[in-house]
Amino acid sequence: MSDWPFTNPVLTASGCGGTGRDLAAYGELAALGGFVTRSVTLQERPGGAEPRIVESPSGLVNAIGLQNPGVVGFLRDELPALLDLGASVVVSIAGHSLGEYAELARTLGRTDGVVALEVNLSVPDPLGSGLLDAREPFQAGSVVGSCRRDLRAGMLLLVKLRSDVTRVAETARAVVEAGADAVVVGNAQPAALPDGRAGGLSGSAIRPQSLRCAAEVARALPETPVIGCGGIMDADDARAYLAAGACAVQVGTALFHDPTTAFRIAQELERPTEPAAGKDDR
Ligand SMILES: Cc1cc2nc3c(=O)[nH]c(=O)nc-3n(C[C@H](O)[C@H](O)[C@H](O)COP(=O)(O)O)c2cc1C
Repeated sequence: MSDWPFTNPVLTASGCGGTGRDLAAYGELAALGGFVTRSVTLQERPGGAEPRIVESPSGLVNAIGLQNPGVVGFLRDELPALLDLGASVVVSIAGHSLGEYAELARTLGRTDGVVALEVNLSVPDPLGSGLLDAREPFQAGSVVGSCRRDLRAGMLLLVKLRSDVTRVAETARAVVEAGADAVVVGNAQPAALPDGRAGGLSGSAIRPQSLRCAAEVARALPETPVIGCGGIMDADDARAYLAAGACAVQVGTALFHDPTTAFRIAQELERPTEPAAGKDDR
């Protein structure tokens, strides 16, 4: 495996730290293990109709639709600022086809300053978003194989999986066999906005399920680094994932409530405290 590039176990979750510039007003991006960009596609995507984010009990439902400037716009307008801010940059990629994933990996996987790619195979509504539907393990493995080929030496390949209790360990095995260095578990879960449009549910509401999936993957693949993601609101939540076998975590929705969350969790994890056992699940 490529060397582990993250100097501490707390990263931002894709799409939740904006372009990094706003988040940098609340803490040093260099103090985080890594900054994961929103998912970048080959062409620009305008994103879904408003409203795109709605509060729900214990979480958010978003229908951002992977709005992003496309790979050319990202390399021109976003990556340089992130590198100037000292972030350890992980670029999330999403594609409409195997060929698009391969092209994104070829371009970004050789870009100076990028420490890792995160292959997003966990969009809550891939078909509705027009993205490749890689929910089956063999499809997921094919995407990862097509990305692995052209990465420069030392570039870590993360694969972000949906927290699907029936398939997650099987899918994780398939992507690791295809060349993933680590897996991220998981993403927002399929849900609907009040007006019925498809979206993804994130935040505290999904933590128990994501935690279970991260634990299952860690148990099934003890040699594979697992990064837990889903509903991490404070250091105890992060510790619960670490205790379940994850080696790092990503913080998403919590940043919309309080943009200092990831910085605070990173600091708190450096201090020894009681384990999370017994904490009420909010
Ligand atoms: C507004 C918003 C935008 C998101 N955009 C992306 C994205 O571009 N790519 C991706 O892989 N995940 C995206 N996610 C999912 C998060 O990265 C994360 O996996 C998910 O929200 C679960 O973690 P959380 O409960 O801590 O938010 C987004 C989530 C939200 C709330």
